[in-house]
Amino acid sequence: MSDSLALSLSGVSKSFDKTAILKGINLDVRKGEFISLLGPSGCGKTTTLNLIAGFSKPDAGDILISGRRVNDMPSHHRHLGMVFQGHALFPHMNCFDNVAFGLRMRKAADSEIRSRVGEALELVRLSGMEKRFPRELSGGQQQRVGLARALAVKPEILLLDEPLSNLDAKLRKAMQSELRAIHTKIRTTMVYVTHDQEEALTLSNRIAVMNDGRLEQLDTPEGIYLQPRTRFVADFIGSSNFLRGTVIECRPGSVVAKLETGENAIVRTDKNLPAGSEIQLGVRSDRILVLSADAPISQGALSGKVLDRVFAGSQFQILVEVASGQRISVHLNEAPSANVVPGASVRLEIAPSNWMILQ
Ligand SMILES: Nc1ncnc2c1ncn2[C@@H]1O[C@H](COP(=O)(O)OP(=O)(O)O)[C@@H](O)[C@H]1O
Ligand SMILES: [Mg+2]
Repeated sequence: MSDSLALSLSGVSKSFDKTAILKGINLDVRKGEFISLLGPSGCGKTTTLNLIAGFSKPDAGDILISGRRVNDMPSHHRHLGMVFQGHALFPHMNCFDNVAFGLRMRKAADSEIRSRVGEALELVRLSGMEKRFPRELSGGQQQRVGLARALAVKPEILLLDEPLSNLDAKLRKAMQSELRAIHTKIRTTMVYVTHDQEEALTLSNRIAVMNDGRLEQLDTPEGIYLQPRTRFVADFIGSSNFLRGTVIECRPGSVVAKLETGENAIVRTDKNLPAGSEIQLGVRSDRILVLSADAPISQGALSGKVLDRVFAGSQFQILVEVASGQRISVHLNEAPSANVVPGASVRLEIAPSNWMILQ
């Protein structure tokens, strides 16, 4: 139902200097949703946001806000809020005036301005700071004023472009949970650009993973993490390993694949993959068991040799070379047995449901 869509992009393309930057983006954002555009630097996230904001026009495709085509609508008529990189606060204005700015542009009445600014500052927990100037605020507080300024006009959609990227790790975490709390409270539709997978996973209702001007997958954080559709998504979010295989047997609910290591894997799948099909398999680093080589043989285990064992704080990271020469990274929450050391022979066990079939 288009009624429930805050934003819709269909076939949106954009080139700069004859180089295609966006290659047909389709994206539907529901009202009240927090959606992240996640992808590596240069994949087209900011370009997409600029088109939504109306700072530039698509070469092809349509952009709809609340069901209305806005391709030719100027930015200030789109009723958006923006928190962009480089959109600093006005240094010569205090907090109140910064937050009031958009309302004054809209010629709101003084009483309305006072109540909206008060509400917005309360929402970002800065009540009482009205008279402070930006230079008298910490980086995190300045970000919150920027957020209040964008929210004060009660936008239909709030666009945020890497708003936390200049903050240190701890403050970023704190701001993430504030943003979550604010979204839960006001339910404004938010489109959030980030290259930080963890940020996207923790904040979003859904994540749009972008790669080289295309949308690779649009799904919930769980869906993106547990059921990545493509190798790119599996690689970009979390840590994954990849092996090619050929289906040698098709069973109800699973297939047996001969891996490039020469070993067989049992792969749970509902897909109908006839014998002979070439498949790209992936497995998350944290979904592999490391057993010593003398453990009882089970079907679907890979033999390998440990290259490295690293304690990385919250996990142990083991690097194992398998028969094909590939290196498989394994992340364990608990210490592996003492004999899992460089040079040791081990077996890697991967449950059928932990194999991912990727495009
Ligand atoms: N105004 C522009 N003119 C020319 N090239 C641009 C312009 N804006 C962005 N690009 C190019 O488009 C690509 C995507 O940029 P951008 O959308 O900013 O990526 P992201 O935000 O995902 O890091 C980059 O290669 C960038 O150099
Ligand atoms: Mg960008």
